[in-house]
Amino acid sequence: MDDNIVGLDKDIKILVPILLDEQSECRVVSICGMGGLGKTTLAKKIYHASQVVGHFKHLAWAYISQNCQERKVWEDILSDLKILSEADKKMKVEKLAEKLYSFLEKNKCLVILDDIWNPEDWDSLKPAFSARETKSKILLTSRNKEIISHADKNGFLYELQCLNYEQSSELFQKIAIPPTNSPGYKIEAKMKELGEDMVKHCAGHPLAIIILGGILATKYPSLTEWLKVSVNVKSNFKNDKGLVLKDVLLLSYDDLPPYLRPGFLYISQFPEDYEIPVDRLIQLRIAEGIVSSKQEEGDEGLVAEDVAEGYLMSLQKDV
Ligand SMILES: Nc1ncnc2c1ncn2[C@@H]1O[C@H](COP(=O)(O)OP(=O)(O)OP(=O)(O)O)[C@@H](O)[C@H]1O
Ligand SMILES: [Mg+2]
Repeated sequence: MDDNIVGLDKDIKILVPILLDEQSECRVVSICGMGGLGKTTLAKKIYHASQVVGHFKHLAWAYISQNCQERKVWEDILSDLKILSEADKKMKVEKLAEKLYSFLEKNKCLVILDDIWNPEDWDSLKPAFSARETKSKILLTSRNKEIISHADKNGFLYELQCLNYEQSSELFQKIAIPPTNSPGYKIEAKMKELGEDMVKHCAGHPLAIIILGGILATKYPSLTEWLKVSVNVKSNFKNDKGLVLKDVLLLSYDDLPPYLRPGFLYISQFPEDYEIPVDRLIQLRIAEGIVSSKQEEGDEGLVAEDVAEGYLMSLQKDV
């Protein structure tokens, strides 16, 4: 994944010094922007930046997501900080917050809170993060700009921008077109033109570019197949704002063979950022009747588990 990252250097150059500044009153930095814009990607780059790793004594990362459970978040952070004991897991939630508060107050830590949805979630988490006399910093990502004023009156709001056309084009090529040194490499002028045209519809949105590029990569080097996708892109998504995410996902959905579509939709019932155990997913899909041992001709000899696993592998490849 890292090989495909484009841009972000400018963003890192702005944000890292703010996080490293010990004199500043700013305790919380927030990266904001719409879904799929690259907030988590940027936060990850910062989390691994050598300057950041060298400056902070301890680093911790917690996914918050739509269903914010403070106990889980605090435990995850304490665990990353390597101070979560078995006794803590039975401790009252208020005590857990106190333990984290006091550790963050005394030690120079960077805590990333990825994907906070609303100010109320911050309110429920803040007992652990409200220390003022500390060298620790909080970096959060959110689609909601309002959280920062809620979290820290001296906080820094960073509004992440879309990719420019050159960056979009670079990302698209990395995803959709095999590297130039791979065997059989050729990119026809017409294909290039088609690709460039489709990228414009993505309006600099990295996730849209990745999804579109992913679809086209499975069809490379067939110009006819690229033309079909391009017709879809153009006829369905004529609005001036470019493709919105829903449209690109629809494109991805439409491109799946019909027998894979229910399985793709089924995944959406799991919460965002939730690690889905494959065995459980397979069992659930069989129980729901989405796959069975007699799903397809030629699969007669396969048990439902094998069919379901095969479908999952195809989904992983196609989506
Ligand atoms: N600058 C970039 N270069 C290459 N790929 C990128 C870039 N920014 C984001 N991506 C890719 O786009 C996808 C979405 O990025 P990411 O998950 O960081 O978005 P997000 O803003 O955190 O979205 P959400 O609001 O849903 O949490 C990921 O697959 C990521 O790898
Ligand atoms: Mg994110």
